[in-house]
Amino acid sequence: MSGDTSIRTYVLRTGRMTEAQKRALEELGPRYFVPFKPDARLDYQALFGDPRPVVAEIGFGMGQATWRIALENPEAGYLGIEVHTPGIGKLLMDMVEHDVRNLRIIHHDAVEVFERMLPPASLSGLHIFYPDPWPKKKHHKRRLIREGLVELLVSRLAPGAYLYFVTDIEEYGQWSLELLARTAGLRNRHEAFAPHQDWRPETKFEARALGDGRAVWELMFEKT
Ligand SMILES: C[S@@+](CC[C@H](N)C(=O)[O-])C[C@H]1O[C@@H](n2cnc3c(N)ncnc32)[C@H](O)[C@@H]1O
Repeated sequence: MSGDTSIRTYVLRTGRMTEAQKRALEELGPRYFVPFKPDARLDYQALFGDPRPVVAEIGFGMGQATWRIALENPEAGYLGIEVHTPGIGKLLMDMVEHDVRNLRIIHHDAVEVFERMLPPASLSGLHIFYPDPWPKKKHHKRRLIREGLVELLVSRLAPGAYLYFVTDIEEYGQWSLELLARTAGLRNRHEAFAPHQDWRPETKFEARALGDGRAVWELMFEKT
């Protein structure tokens, strides 16, 4: 396992952009994007206009769960972090269609965003849904939940904040359960895996996993 945070947890996919997604990026991006700034800590209050709790999501993909959760929780602020451009375009379109106002997007590597932009002990929650599982042993060092990186993620959670992780890969679920359980400053809210959280809408990767008959493994930890 590797604590080197410069190892990328993703490979940029070249997914085709629809014309509508391209237009959304150009026209709506400036309204909802938070630019990556390596030397400025993000001021959530300035971003959302009040001192509300803020929840981050790493790797929202096409963003189906992201805008729905934000819409259903107007009292919170949400930060979606993703590198996949077509997904960002799609999420922007859904945000406008459903008038979602409490969600901002950072189009950048979440590891660097956590390292350089998010203030320590500042988030009320962190969502990681179906992260790339990197199943080969030689690629385990690219996992988002890995030793050396998980400490960085946890350091940005405020006391009492939750870390909600979902995967369809049993081995990655087990790996993450063991790693999170031995990470200082975290406690499991359940004995082992968490029950399905009814408030979480289905994501694209979840629909695929369920369609292929795979089970879902959920973890709900809390910052102490
Ligand atoms: C397997 S997909 C899952 C997408 C979505 N959560 C879902 O359930 O449908 C993982 C996503 O995480 C994104 N990702 C991985 N590492 C990332 C990072 N360091 N920063 C931002 N996004 C990342 C990838 O671009 C990809 O879209």
